[in-house]
Amino acid sequence: MSQRVPVRIRVNGVTHELDVEPRLLLVHALRDKLGLTGTHVGCDTSNCGACTVHLDGRAVKSCTVLAVQADGAEVTTIEGLGTPDSLHPVQEAFWEHHGLQCGYCTPGMIMAAADLLQRNPNPTEEDVRRALEGNLCRCTGYHNIVKAIMSAAESGRGSISEPSPSQEGREAAEAFAQEGLGA
Ligand code: FES
Ligand code: FES
Repeated sequence: MSQRVPVRIRVNGVTHELDVEPRLLLVHALRDKLGLTGTHVGCDTSNCGACTVHLDGRAVKSCTVLAVQADGAEVTTIEGLGTPDSLHPVQEAFWEHHGLQCGYCTPGMIMAAADLLQRNPNPTEEDVRRALEGNLCRCTGYHNIVKAIMSAAESGRGSISEPSPSQEGREAAEAFAQEGLGA
């Protein structure tokens, strides 16, 4: 049996204590231990960006981070960015501008865009395209993705900081953790 390491990670406002193998990637901890399957795995080469989350407020590819490296950190996934009743401004802009086709790359695109707009609320189209260089869309829907992000920026919506998770989201995550799936 391989050695396990205790880690404590705050995800979408909820603290989780996990015992993980040192080799476990953050993306697998999120998906398989915490049930947060909105974070996707789209490659095994760290190229696609489908696994992008925020780690202490900055976008990272969670397939390039070990869960043990996230010990003590704050992680936000697509599930923590908004709720169906209260979308994050970038989610709303993707909805309005049809910034997706199959949707597989969308969580990563939105997390990368939200990070860009927090750092640069008034990006040029060039800035947006550069910020998305690490995120691939196999449906090649880049035009509407860029349009959505520019729209969020132009309306000032993108400068809204990351929301704290809703009470509803927090309760759902806590219930999930209590079922033993988070341990
Ligand atoms: Fe992480 Fe593709 S799954 S970059
Ligand atoms: Fe299909 Fe981007 S919408 S991969």
